[in-house]
Amino acid sequence: MKEKIRLEHVDAGFGEKQVLYDINLIIPERKVTVIMGPSGSGKTTLLRLLNRMHEEVRGAWIRGKVFLDGLDIYSLRDPTPVRRRVGMIFQRPNPFPKMSIYENVAIGLKLYGVKDEEFIRQKVREALEAAALWEEVKDELDKPGTALSGGQQQRLCIARALAVEPDVLLMDEPTSALDPISTSKIELLIRSLSKKYTIVLVTHNVQQAARVSDYAGFIHKGRIIEFSLTAEMLTKPKNELTERFISRRALG
Ligand SMILES: Nc1ncnc2c1ncn2[C@@H]1O[C@H](COP(=O)(O)OP(=O)(O)OP(=O)(O)O)[C@@H](O)[C@H]1O
Ligand SMILES: [Mg+2]
Repeated sequence: MKEKIRLEHVDAGFGEKQVLYDINLIIPERKVTVIMGPSGSGKTTLLRLLNRMHEEVRGAWIRGKVFLDGLDIYSLRDPTPVRRRVGMIFQRPNPFPKMSIYENVAIGLKLYGVKDEEFIRQKVREALEAAALWEEVKDELDKPGTALSGGQQQRLCIARALAVEPDVLLMDEPTSALDPISTSKIELLIRSLSKKYTIVLVTHNVQQAARVSDYAGFIHKGRIIEFSLTAEMLTKPKNELTERFISRRALG
């Protein structure tokens, strides 16, 4: 396994409140790594550290080091290149309102200063194909992104993230607002994207972790309790907290 992201002694929080404690973690390249844990345990905070979105919140702070391909991302003054390489998909699909399907995917390239319309058109198509949405929308690229179904909107957001050619995708409970059919499409997509991208997925859902992920981390009250191959964690959890979380979730 090749290392893509490494966290060393990371503490993080908001103002007086510490949320993450001494996180040491290696995220392998071109694999799906899930982060599981109870509500409020710090999953979203951990994810947002990885592309320097955390610091967008007033009062947010971080100590320790986060390396991307060996580069300390917090040593850079400008977070923009990190965010380009590490894309993010949120819990609620959030296509930009008043923008067409096409514009929603093209926007990132335009913001990064790409002007060649032919190149952009090609990239939009490739991104929609990679997000398994092209066939469904190719004849209606001018329709508003928000006119799509929830599952299509989430794939549109994935296409938007892919268009700027990242190497890492962060996904924060990307299917929790979706129906089972849309969920399984996204899960298949996550599997196929992991051939090319490093994926870090936050999920509450143990079955989803089993279906899509290679590695799993369990976080509890801001600490990583356990990290291993998913199959190992789900069948032979080492820690009692992990075991309790898994058996409770697996029933419900
Ligand atoms: N912007 C913020 N300002 C202050 N505290 C915050 C902020 N965002 C999160 N927190 C706190 O940090 C802790 C961890 O929150 P986080 O959102 O990372 O948890 P989570 O594991 O993603 O939870 P969930 O499963 O409910 O999404 C919580 O106690 C939360 O109240
Ligand atoms: Mg969260």
